[in-house]
Amino acid sequence: MISLGTIRAAGPLMLAPIAGFTDSPYRRIARRHGAGLVVTELVSAEGIVRMNRKTRDLLGFSDEERPIAVQIFGNGPDIMADAAAVVEELGPDMIDINMGCPARRVCASGSGAALLLDPNKIRAVTESIVKKVRIPVTAKIRIGWDVDTLTYRDTVRALEDAGVSLIFVHGRTRAQQYGGRADWNVIREIVEMTAVPIVGNGDIRSFTDAHERMAFSGCPAVMIGRGAIGNPWIFSGRTPTSAEVITQIKEHLDMMIDAYGDWGIMLMRKHFVRYIHAFRGAKKIRKEIVVSNDRDEIHEILDSLISA
Ligand SMILES: Cc1cc2nc3c(=O)[nH]c(=O)nc-3n(C[C@H](O)[C@H](O)[C@H](O)COP(=O)(O)O)c2cc1C
Repeated sequence: MISLGTIRAAGPLMLAPIAGFTDSPYRRIARRHGAGLVVTELVSAEGIVRMNRKTRDLLGFSDEERPIAVQIFGNGPDIMADAAAVVEELGPDMIDINMGCPARRVCASGSGAALLLDPNKIRAVTESIVKKVRIPVTAKIRIGWDVDTLTYRDTVRALEDAGVSLIFVHGRTRAQQYGGRADWNVIREIVEMTAVPIVGNGDIRSFTDAHERMAFSGCPAVMIGRGAIGNPWIFSGRTPTSAEVITQIKEHLDMMIDAYGDWGIMLMRKHFVRYIHAFRGAKKIRKEIVVSNDRDEIHEILDSLISA
């Protein structure tokens, strides 16, 4: 266990939320491979207050995933505090506020990355949640709206004032979406300007990258998103054998079927592609695997990859 202020994590390499990928099964897998902390994908505060079916599914987690943050997004102090109170009842270790989602639909309502343009609103939203719940509150931010509107100094000051326990910093602007490069110089500057623990994020593709970025930036921990999809070994630095990869994929598939029934096979397709891309013969196998709806057949196709 490591301590980041009041937050306890199982290690310094954390799993970033990737909507559609880092659901409960994958978070469990990441934790088994050594991810120090996991976060749910963003969940709408309005959806939480109404508690519709989709929202309930997104909020589900198991004890094996701890420490876990539930991430919420919304645009006003009242709705966010109400949602946080509902979430706290579910027993997560912390609540994370999304201040980075670049989607037009989310930003148009003043949520996600749009918050970066309004430090007063950041302060109001965050304060209302901090006052409402007993568990730690964190925020996941970007460094600004675009290259001409780098808002990170005001954002971080507002979050400090409001009493957040930790800040995840994705070193890109909203305009960059997921392209270009994350700016780790800015992440380092943020570490130097605040006493709040900073977890840097962006473009970490290996265990070595993770440790280099921590050393460079002074971050006590880092968060890995795309680099962890299809590669949970990134958290331990181990290079798996082909047989281990296949065993992991099969286990993941079975966990998806447990969680979602047959629909889990469909949801697993995007993971297959990530796991097997480096295998010899992957292209041919991929075509077969993504049209199969049969668990046993998929297991057989996977086994053929090792014997190929
Ligand atoms: C498809 C996709 C979905 C994402 N969903 C979320 C999300 O729900 N909440 C969030 O805070 N960030 C989300 N992110 C951003 C990641 O958490 C992370 O900040 C970003 O991908 C940069 O890290 P990486 O280079 O390690 O992937 C998403 C990114 C991608 C590509």
